[in-house]
Amino acid sequence: MSGLDRAQADNLSGLRILVTGGAGFIGSHLVDTLLAQGAAEVRALDNLTNGNHENLVGQNANERFTLVVGDVRDDVVREKALHGIDIVYHLACLGVRHSLHDPIENHDVNARGTLLMLCSARAEGIRRFIYVSTSEVFGTAQYVPMDERHPTWPETVYGASKLAGEASSRAFFRTYGMDTVVVRPFNTYGPRSHFAGDSGEVLPRTIVRLLAGHRPVIFGDGQQTRDFMHVFDTVTALALLAQGSGLAGETLNLGSGAEVTMNALCAAVALAVERPDLLPVHDSARPGDVRRLLGDPTLMMSLTGFAPTVPFERGVAELVAWFRASAADNPDQVELMEDRNWVALEAV
Ligand SMILES: NC(=O)c1ccc[n+]([C@@H]2O[C@H](COP(=O)([O-])OP(=O)(O)OC[C@H]3O[C@@H](n4cnc5c(N)ncnc54)[C@H](O)[C@@H]3O)[C@@H](O)[C@H]2O)c1
Repeated sequence: MSGLDRAQADNLSGLRILVTGGAGFIGSHLVDTLLAQGAAEVRALDNLTNGNHENLVGQNANERFTLVVGDVRDDVVREKALHGIDIVYHLACLGVRHSLHDPIENHDVNARGTLLMLCSARAEGIRRFIYVSTSEVFGTAQYVPMDERHPTWPETVYGASKLAGEASSRAFFRTYGMDTVVVRPFNTYGPRSHFAGDSGEVLPRTIVRLLAGHRPVIFGDGQQTRDFMHVFDTVTALALLAQGSGLAGETLNLGSGAEVTMNALCAAVALAVERPDLLPVHDSARPGDVRRLLGDPTLMMSLTGFAPTVPFERGVAELVAWFRASAADNPDQVELMEDRNWVALEAV
């Protein structure tokens, strides 16, 4: 438990909380944190498309935890998952790569799924609905740091569908007076992050490649940037949104305030795995690849007091250790990855 977790412990006592997407990367860490902070009950709703039981193995014996396996678009499933719930964290969605080859389903889960969750949560009379959006709603930075008023011109259907979910969440506050909060994490990394398939993220992919002795792949010149936050910090920030007045109707960026180029990321991983000889291979730039992201954390800090605690280099070193340990279970990790450009990915 981090220092902040300890300070917050028991703050959530009495609350019954639903986390959609709770078997996924961020959702499962959020489940752990909410339970560690004393929530009376935490329920995860996930159809296990990209999430898995393994992420929740630490809570198997916890009587305050339940996993509801099902689709957020299923009326019966939503009713069951929401019954008696006070707070909803809505994270269930399909990711950016999925949106390239199946934009219709991506929109259906991310946009319509959110609207359905809002309708059902309102019918249940929940106290607060926290919509976990993404910095991908912005498209590439038009100025930095990117505050909440930065224009939203998403590059992908994923970003567009998440923006629709944001708009519906804000509309439920304005139209129905429902207590909704929108939060936009920038790039999150840490244990349980995806390295393979549609959900594969750049940092875990790079780590897995280098650990297997392969050179990292950079699409484009490597000068594109992302604002990285360790998942322990991300979920600490999310947990702070469960309570407190003055948050209803707000939209908050959740960035660290620092940016990392893809070139610097590869160098940091090479250092952590002690393979500085594995220099990046450059492939052509990807369509829809955002050029620059750097969040302004000021509003989040001023409304919640949150500040990130895990420096990037330390987080990378710890994640390398985590992947080293998990490779013992799955020595063929690198075979599961497809380091193809998005253009090729779309064509298959
Ligand atoms: N990972 C990041 O860097 C990042 C950055 C910004 C925002 N986010 C947001 O955080 C949230 C969680 O992302 P993540 O990285 O943990 O992804 P993830 O894929 O690990 O989690 C999403 C979960 O939703 C589940 N899901 C998908 N479709 C579903 C459906 N129809 N019904 C029920 N469950 C369904 C998946 O099985 C998965 O477990 C998402 O809303 C995402 O937009 C993530």
